[in-house]
Amino acid sequence: MRIGCSVADKKTSRIPGFYDLPLDRRLDRVLEAAGLEAAAGRPFPTLTAEQADHMIENAIGVFGLPLGIALNFVVNGRDLLVPMAIEEPSVVAGASFMAKLARDAGGFEAETTAPEMIGQIQILDVPDVEAAQRALRQEKAAILAQADKVDPVLTRLGGGARDLEIRWLESTPSGPMLVLHLIYDTRDAMGANAVNTAVERLQPLIEGITGGRVHLRILSNLADRRLARARCRIPAASFTHADFEGMGVARGIVEASAFAEADPYRAATHNKGIMNGVDAVVIATGNDWRAVEAGAHAYAARTGRYSALSQWRLDGDGTLEGTLEMPLAIGIVGGATRVHPLAQFALRLMGVETARELAEVVVSVGLAQNLAALRALATEGIQRGHMQLHARQVAIAAGAHGEDVEAVARLMVAEGTVRLDRAQEWLAQRQGPGQNTGPDTK
Ligand code: MEV
Repeated sequence: MRIGCSVADKKTSRIPGFYDLPLDRRLDRVLEAAGLEAAAGRPFPTLTAEQADHMIENAIGVFGLPLGIALNFVVNGRDLLVPMAIEEPSVVAGASFMAKLARDAGGFEAETTAPEMIGQIQILDVPDVEAAQRALRQEKAAILAQADKVDPVLTRLGGGARDLEIRWLESTPSGPMLVLHLIYDTRDAMGANAVNTAVERLQPLIEGITGGRVHLRILSNLADRRLARARCRIPAASFTHADFEGMGVARGIVEASAFAEADPYRAATHNKGIMNGVDAVVIATGNDWRAVEAGAHAYAARTGRYSALSQWRLDGDGTLEGTLEMPLAIGIVGGATRVHPLAQFALRLMGVETARELAEVVVSVGLAQNLAALRALATEGIQRGHMQLHARQVAIAAGAHGEDVEAVARLMVAEGTVRLDRAQEWLAQRQGPGQNTGPDTK
């Protein structure tokens, strides 16, 4: 279902007071800011159980996640509102806040490499390894031509087989093996289907050329030829707030980055913070977030030691600079991106027209999210900002509805005890006869 069409050129991702709007006003406000036609009372697009039944086996329904809009993003000079599907409190607010600081300093610069994926072909029992490698090199043009036949549409659109890489794994638990990589440009698709079909079809040809036995034929999720990079530069003074002086906060962010760059235990959590932002947009656009997660963490370990995907440094002129580089195998055509009505809505809202543009947005959100986490950790810690929203979730879990949700959450935060049993007590007191102040504290 299409919820609107582009009617205006002037788009903005700044919507002051958005948080305070009632839920049923927010969608129209977002559509208006994005230059899209108002929803005009039409139902919000959702995946139906019938659609779900066509997507997976044994479907019994659909599973919902909150969909929020991150504000303030400027990526490569363009304003965009970013849809994020995520259950964790503070993520959307954190990204929006950091995007605001970055925006005031020009926003995010992002770039991507060509959308080249790697398909792997495992070749065992090769009688003469040197001769097999020579033959593969000699037959490269024929192999690429055969791979190109798999998806003529993709080839017409400028994608298709690009190159071969030959790798010799000398020592594995099953002995030595030859591995052939097919480098395949998948254009605006994530590309798993095209690549997997291509490597499967190549089996007889590769066996004929090498004299070996082809075993696995599958895409690699370490998409290290399909990289996305983001960068932002924010004056340290922008981080001044309440009890914190900007330069001190910026230095604290640099120290936090150094910790993650040096220590895999911290790097895992640092990267998790990046993926909070990345996954939320990847999910909202119907992409395969497990593939993105696998690629990100494998890339973080590419030197043999797991490290941070992003780095933060302070210039001599007092500007904090952050950079993030990671593989992003995501698409805007094919799979759930086409089927899921909300994924279509998400793409239209951002106005992205290519997979590379989408990856440039996603990597920028990852960098913003990372900055939000480091800023909080380097100052008051993450629990303070987290607590009110977390408390609401606990109140809902305790059975609160409507006004009770906010009221019970507030009582728990004020008391400093956010626990299910406490929420149940407060709720019982609010709902009990003649009581609305809270449980006896004894
Ligand atoms: C929590 O979801 C994410 C953080 O732990 C990230 C980080 O520590 O950098 C706050």
